[in-house]
Amino acid sequence: MNKISLKIEYVELDNESELNEEERTLLRKAREISNLAYAPYSNFSVGAALLLDNGIIVTGNNQENVAFPSGLCAERVAIFSAGANYPDAAIKTIAITCKSKQFIVKEPLSPCGACRQSMSEYEVRHKSHIRIILQGETGKIRIINSIADLLPFMFKAEELKK
Ligand code: THU
Repeated sequence: MNKISLKIEYVELDNESELNEEERTLLRKAREISNLAYAPYSNFSVGAALLLDNGIIVTGNNQENVAFPSGLCAERVAIFSAGANYPDAAIKTIAITCKSKQFIVKEPLSPCGACRQSMSEYEVRHKSHIRIILQGETGKIRIINSIADLLPFMFKAEELKK
């Protein structure tokens, strides 16, 4: 038996003043777009803003549906929009934030598994790490270096070819 352990490194910041201007802008845009989320069922609004390597920022928010599984998370709304409009551009950074109508979110959002898998596709496709900046409504900011760190053992295209 081989016992193997995995280690990931990430950074936590106490507040936005420790971010550079580009990162602050991205987080602000994620917050702004979260305010336009359509989340009447969960009352939980998520916003994502991603920076492409061509300098363009693409945003998205969660879009819920009365048939619950038909809705889509903010991250996928944003990355699919980027993929549709700028197919050749790599995603450099994605900022994701959230707020609830029922409580104050003090912890950084943790992207759901389906969004991690969806984001991993773009990291693999463009052979370029996507940096992830996460924050709740207030509180610490968590920065992770790549989607691969968030999703070890991700499903990859090679598995289709074996
Ligand atoms: N949600 C996101 O937009 N992103 C995530 O990573 C987790 C959850 C949305 C889906 C749903 O509209 C609401 O948050 C509550 O789950």
